[in-house]
Amino acid sequence: MEVSTVIHGISRLYTMDPSREGLGIIDDAAVAMNAGKVCWVGQSSAAPDCDNRVDGQGLIGLPGLIDPHTHSVWAGSRADEFARRLAGANYADILEAGGGILSTVKATREATEESLREHAKRRLQHMRSRGVTTVEVKSGYGLCPRTELSMLRAADPAHHNMGVVRTFLGAHTVPADFRSNRSAYVEQIIDEQLPLCAPHADFIDVYCDRGAFDLDEAIAILSAGKAMGLKVRAHAEQVSHTGIAEAAAKLGATALDHLERVDEAGISAMADAGTVAVLLPGAQLYLGDHAPPVAALREAGVPIAIGTDLNPGSSPIHDIWTAATLACLIQGLTMHEAILGITRHAGMALGLPDAGWIGTGSRADLALFAPPAGEPATIESLLQHMGRQGAEAVIISDAATP
Ligand code: NIG
Ligand code: FE
Repeated sequence: MEVSTVIHGISRLYTMDPSREGLGIIDDAAVAMNAGKVCWVGQSSAAPDCDNRVDGQGLIGLPGLIDPHTHSVWAGSRADEFARRLAGANYADILEAGGGILSTVKATREATEESLREHAKRRLQHMRSRGVTTVEVKSGYGLCPRTELSMLRAADPAHHNMGVVRTFLGAHTVPADFRSNRSAYVEQIIDEQLPLCAPHADFIDVYCDRGAFDLDEAIAILSAGKAMGLKVRAHAEQVSHTGIAEAAAKLGATALDHLERVDEAGISAMADAGTVAVLLPGAQLYLGDHAPPVAALREAGVPIAIGTDLNPGSSPIHDIWTAATLACLIQGLTMHEAILGITRHAGMALGLPDAGWIGTGSRADLALFAPPAGEPATIESLLQHMGRQGAEAVIISDAATP
């Protein structure tokens, strides 16, 4: 067996390997990797010989974390809107009045592609320092062919030292100049934006909601993206119930996100299609909303993932650990569900079956964490304490060394 790196002395490794029981825990663990893949996992004492041995220093090991829903490319600030919402203004009303997403669109259109890339780089670098090795990034603040393409190019994984899955979200909302002619904007998305953007994207996404796209428009857009070879996902049943969860699941959606107002028909269509539910507790918290029906999703066997939904408006949360802890606190997930939600299930939500777990053949993405002072080396300690993870993390991604 050819081995390029062995990491040994990991106090407790959570492999999340589906072929192992529970969270696939191995104590005093070692991981061997070669050519970007894991080739052996077991106890440190049995690790294969290798010149390049890295000391895991008694830290907690996890597969590199995965943030399956972010809007990490944007320009401008919406801190003023935060003040307005704290004073009682409503998110959907602000959007319908031309603010919210549309105010970020104005600033993003005015920015250069280079500055968009630099902002994104800093945001992604911070995520990596918290243990994230793969992130999903959407367009959707351009709402015109030129800036939608710039956003996707700014997120090109070639510019960022981590895995990036890109999503085309030209259907984030209807831009101001098309508000009186919505169908012309839907046509522009399908006929102009999609052909330009599809080669730079893995997924098609649509925000189907009050103030954004209705069900028919959303299905037309998702179907066009699917026909161009993109995987399907949607911002679904967030502010109002539209039926998009059921319809998109029937279209074969890989993931559906938000879901505060998903109903039984939507949940059973998702279960039938094997669609992953991506929960976004940051948006729920910032918008003062209620939780999605987690018990019903769980009962139906829908896999649950968790994202930060990092964006400048509804969820300015940069840290996947914070999102995971919030999912426990305000959405009712167990800690086991939360850790699955930011590892293996998040990989499934991005259509990456080899990511989010550690075992022979998986990606060699590994993150090591120190527990908060005085705490044991467990995910329970990491999840219970907010804002204290990652500072001492060592990330080994792909062929890179720490
Ligand atoms: O996922 N809900 C719609 N889209 C984003 C919000 C983006 C924004 O407010 O800028 C979301 O929450
Ligand atoms: Fe979003």
